[in-house]
Amino acid sequence: MKAVTWHGVHDMRVEEVPDPRIEEPTDIVIRVTSSGLCGSDLHLYETLAAFMEPGDIVGHEPMGVVEAVGSAVTHLDIGDRVVIPFNVSCGHCWMCERQLYSQCETTQNREHGTGASFLGYSKLYGQIPGGQAEYLRVPHGGFGAVKVPHGPPDDRFLFLSDVLPTAWQGVEYADVPDGGTLLVLGAGPIGDMAARVAMHRGVRTIVADLVPERLQRVAGRGAEAIDISRLEGSSLADVVRDETHGRGPDAVIDAVGMEAHGSPVKAVHKMVGLLPDVLAEPLMKAAGMDRLTALHTAFDAVRRGGTVSVSGVYGGAADPMNLMQMFDKQVQVRMGQANVRRWTDDILALLQKDDDVLGVESFATHHLSLDEAPQAYESFQKKEDGAVKIVFRP
Ligand SMILES: NC(=O)c1ccc[n+]([C@@H]2O[C@H](COP(=O)([O-])OP(=O)(O)OC[C@H]3O[C@@H](n4cnc5c(N)ncnc54)[C@H](O)[C@@H]3O)[C@@H](O)[C@H]2O)c1
Ligand SMILES: [Zn+2]
Ligand SMILES: [Zn+2]
Repeated sequence: MKAVTWHGVHDMRVEEVPDPRIEEPTDIVIRVTSSGLCGSDLHLYETLAAFMEPGDIVGHEPMGVVEAVGSAVTHLDIGDRVVIPFNVSCGHCWMCERQLYSQCETTQNREHGTGASFLGYSKLYGQIPGGQAEYLRVPHGGFGAVKVPHGPPDDRFLFLSDVLPTAWQGVEYADVPDGGTLLVLGAGPIGDMAARVAMHRGVRTIVADLVPERLQRVAGRGAEAIDISRLEGSSLADVVRDETHGRGPDAVIDAVGMEAHGSPVKAVHKMVGLLPDVLAEPLMKAAGMDRLTALHTAFDAVRRGGTVSVSGVYGGAADPMNLMQMFDKQVQVRMGQANVRRWTDDILALLQKDDDVLGVESFATHHLSLDEAPQAYESFQKKEDGAVKIVFRP
């Protein structure tokens, strides 16, 4: 089959690889019909290179049709239409019983000290072959796969794999009080969708980014958009405070993560991505190598006693954070990979309403073939060509 494979920093290729097969009784195999490209894939493209091996198949936002099921899979049949969560979780361990699916104890990666395995996402998360491919083996697919009805286009359901539950969890964790205000940092797919979910719940939502067409998208759906490249000397936190009775928003979602613009350590960060693995691996894990601009802004902007909800991914272990400010402001922090299956039933019910309230069917800006993947990674990273959400159709 054809698959998108990682070969080095900024080097994605499309190759012929062996078809996947059922390996465990709890597996399923699907024929992939759509597969998203995610901001998290950009971390592999550059920053997390030390944890990748040439030939690793990437992608963690797939959906498709069931081709084969393992002998222990009881509720899925060949031909069912399914969306696959990016978390690989067993559904029955101590963590899964508490719906902390991104912490599944059956698939945790203890040798790296990381949580549940994650499709197509490096040695840190199990090195499971990913879903930007024609076929995909889904470990624990009998539990994970979300069955969706035949009929509507793929994009109605595709974002259940990651964007929707991540945005949903970000908004849940932000816990905005009635009548309150939310600031969303980043208008990429995650920030955009988090803003849509918050506005659907009636929350006043302000979104900040620096890419004009991304800001236009969220403004077009009713968010108050702020272009951080046009602040002319004042800080984003000050501007937002001015809009919120001088206090700041009740909650801030960081939907940016470690690829943030505007931090002086950017060059260092890039350099780590280019080091040989033996040097880069310990550096990435132990040192403070993130670009923390967005996170710092979140703590600065949030009102005293407010909540910071971190959806963006950070990788370093010793980043200097402003602990004095965090403590003094009595801020609550909630974060983590989305527990995808915790939210999918609620979201699916909303998606099955006729009027597409979240606008998912027009959410993707590009539908491309797998052969176009190397170029797609580049334009998504550079935010060129209006690329906000790219979906591959294998
Ligand atoms: N928690 C989870 O389970 C989960 C799931 C999916 C994605 N993520 C993470 O969420 C983050 C966003 O993902 P995405 O797909 O939307 O990616 P993306 O890279 O398209 O979006 C990030 C956006 O942030 C903007 N930005 C950069 N610096 C900024 C700053 N200082 N202030 C405000 N905006 C800034 C960029 O212009 C971009 O539009 C990534 O870190 C990704 O890894 C987390
Ligand atoms: Zn993703
Ligand atoms: Zn589990």
